[in-house]
Amino acid sequence: MSSSALTVLAIPGSLRRGSFNAMLLRAADARSPEHVAFEHYEGLGDLPHFSEDLEGALTPASVLELRDRLRAADAVLISTPEYNGAMPGSLKNALDWASRPPGESVFKEKPSAAIGASPGRYGAQRSQEAVRRVLGAMGAEILDEELPVPRVHEKFDTEGVLVDEDVAAQLDGLVSSLAELTGIPAPPLPSSAEYSLECQRMLA
Ligand SMILES: Cc1cc2nc3c(=O)[nH]c(=O)nc-3n(C[C@H](O)[C@H](O)[C@H](O)COP(=O)(O)O)c2cc1C
Repeated sequence: MSSSALTVLAIPGSLRRGSFNAMLLRAADARSPEHVAFEHYEGLGDLPHFSEDLEGALTPASVLELRDRLRAADAVLISTPEYNGAMPGSLKNALDWASRPPGESVFKEKPSAAIGASPGRYGAQRSQEAVRRVLGAMGAEILDEELPVPRVHEKFDTEGVLVDEDVAAQLDGLVSSLAELTGIPAPPLPSSAEYSLECQRMLA
């Protein structure tokens, strides 16, 4: 059990093995401050196509699980690819499921941010705009920051490690802003006496 103060549910908008957007979320996780715990949602491909005929008592277990995980998270970070100028259908499908039942969207007032990556020149910018628009329609509290990552294949090494310092710095800033948006305070920094005690313990 983590002692972290707040949890971020990370949702990649791609089902692809080796997805750059999933890598971006893993990088955000690896670099996040200690009081921020990432959870990675990997169930996008398990969700059936949304249909009002599958609501109520017929709601699929995969949808209930998605809603539970969103409800439990303090914040949501979506990293989306761009398909033909918009978000992938599988991501829109998940957001549509999350928006139901009417008036009970688990995104209502949920601190949320959208980032995205593409091998192209614009870093999935139009897709991020689309995600933000949809989050707005669902009543989410949207972080007013963007992070389009163009030419993403040049930003990671062959092991999937983020090697671009500019992107890393922007990612750090965005995650900090998202954490602040939750209103959950970061734990205070240790006093200098506590810090030197901790150093002595580590060196012993
Ligand atoms: C159906 C399809 C449409 C695409 N359309 C766009 C596009 O409009 N803009 C863009 O920058 N890249 C586009 N791409 C390329 C994706 O950005 C690229 O495949 C990216 O790596 C997908 O993200 P992922 O690595 O997280 O899976 C498209 C790819 C596919 C498969």
